[in-house]
Amino acid sequence: MYVCLCKGITEQQLQQAVEQGDSYAQIRQKMGVGTDCGCCGQSAKQMIREHINKMPVCEFAEAS
Ligand code: FES
Repeated sequence: MYVCLCKGITEQQLQQAVEQGDSYAQIRQKMGVGTDCGCCGQSAKQMIREHINKMPVCEFAEAS
């Protein structure tokens, strides 16, 4: 599914970027999500948040 029609960015591409540790700001800068018409910005942020919440928690992060 396309998240950003202006730049042709799919949900899968966003997920891969998040898995590589990119923040929304980095994804925006690298891929151009939300930089043209801006319609996709909020939905892209929401997808990134949801994907981060589904990622496994680092055991070291819970210990501290
Ligand atoms: S749909 Fe993403 S900038 Fe237009």
